[in-house]
Amino acid sequence: TKENIALFTIFGGTGDLAKRKLYPSLFRLFRKGNLKKHFAIIGTARRDWTDEYYREIVKETLVDLDPTEKELAEFCGHFYYQAHNVTDTEHYDTLKTLADKLDEDYQLQGNRIFYLAMAPQFFGTITSHLASQEIVTETGFNRLIIEKPFGNDFYSAEKLNKEIREAFNEEQIYRIDHYLGKEMVQNISAIRFGNTIFEALWNKNYIDNVQITFAESIGVEERGGYYEKSGALKDMIQNHVLQVVSLLAMDEPSVFSQEAILAEKVKALNAIRIYTEEEARQNFVRGQYREGQLDSQKFISYKEEHNVHEDSQIETFVAGKFHIDNFRWEGVPFYVRTGKRLTEKGTRISIVFKPVPVNVFREQDQKAPDAETIQSNVLTIYIQPTEGFSLSLNGKEVGQGFNLHPVKLDFRHSSETMGNSPEAYEKLILDCLNGDGTNFTHWDEVAQSWRIVDVIRRAWDKDSDPIPTYPSATMGPKCAFDLLKNDGFDWIWKP
Ligand code: BG6
Repeated sequence: TKENIALFTIFGGTGDLAKRKLYPSLFRLFRKGNLKKHFAIIGTARRDWTDEYYREIVKETLVDLDPTEKELAEFCGHFYYQAHNVTDTEHYDTLKTLADKLDEDYQLQGNRIFYLAMAPQFFGTITSHLASQEIVTETGFNRLIIEKPFGNDFYSAEKLNKEIREAFNEEQIYRIDHYLGKEMVQNISAIRFGNTIFEALWNKNYIDNVQITFAESIGVEERGGYYEKSGALKDMIQNHVLQVVSLLAMDEPSVFSQEAILAEKVKALNAIRIYTEEEARQNFVRGQYREGQLDSQKFISYKEEHNVHEDSQIETFVAGKFHIDNFRWEGVPFYVRTGKRLTEKGTRISIVFKPVPVNVFREQDQKAPDAETIQSNVLTIYIQPTEGFSLSLNGKEVGQGFNLHPVKLDFRHSSETMGNSPEAYEKLILDCLNGDGTNFTHWDEVAQSWRIVDVIRRAWDKDSDPIPTYPSATMGPKCAFDLLKNDGFDWIWKP
């Protein structure tokens, strides 16, 4: 394993993301030897904490990983805390002194990663200070990791991007979309570009429609305040869902490199039709969860959640249809849906192939009316919680006569394999250490994704009808089913 050398400065070091994802991921990298001796971490936030207290907090985040006392002592010894008010210039000078000292103590060669795990309104302030107070170095690499949301619409995103770009260039910016770190999202490219039987058919001649579901069983939990401003459209569709659409829709890259992949993804996103408001209303529907029950578990409605307005019109569910206007996809709908408080947690992609041009079994079908008739082939990619893929085919039922019978080729990664596989954040942090931006979102992608969803948001904002609701623990409002029914299709996944 290659040892990586860097100083991490985590803005938002006392926050939820740092505790849930970043510290455990850094620890796993440490355990695997990706981080050894030459690394240090500065956590910053407003509170006044000592290094000792901070290290205790970090320690607590690692319990699930069963660390030994020795591992803990060694790993946590690399953590330092600096109370910091992001708008106070003097604080950056203190930060610089600490950073330079750690650089020397741990021989970090000027390599710096700045991780912005906090409220986006401060991103611009932080990056400009990092440059003006010379916390970015001349000697090593300087990389910026940014969490979503990247802006609130195209214009705010553009403004934010301009601010950041004054201090960092595009190659130094790593915009996180944690779905791009998931094993099976990365596997989409392997399935497509490693298999003749799929890639040869990956177009409008053979594919009827594509269905992408990002279902969550949880509600908004503690994030009502944030969610009231974002809703499912900005929380999921603008980023994760459109990233997956672009990976499914893109043309093959000439070689599997960051530049080549990016170019193809951007081309695919640019081909997604930007709707008029009228078209947005026809092609996208939304919903909000109301009370519901699953077995003995009862759920409250979204409107009753903490920090949510009692007549909130924000959507907790979105379903929609994208058109991709290029030679490969003309006329093939890409259906997407995502929501909270759905029946179960699961992210799945179904590629629904066209039926065979002529059903030569039609007479047999008639002879045995209860016999199963020919089905469309479906390739399903299971992103989570199970990970794998399956292909449904038609075979013959064993016995006399000629009845068709569905057959499923099914592959799942074993829990043992997955247990040892790196978690999304771990992979993405390591990618950043290696200077590999493939699984991060480039500005052109972010910009185009906002252009696509902004119209939908505007159309809904003008709609005076109350938002449709759906009972918790179901798969969304009726309009989400009608969307496909009107086109003669149906959601393949019906949990
Ligand atoms: C985040 C959203 O980006 O993704 C959350 O803000 C959502 O609302 C989460 O719950 C889902 O991620 P995962 O990895 O749990 O599927």
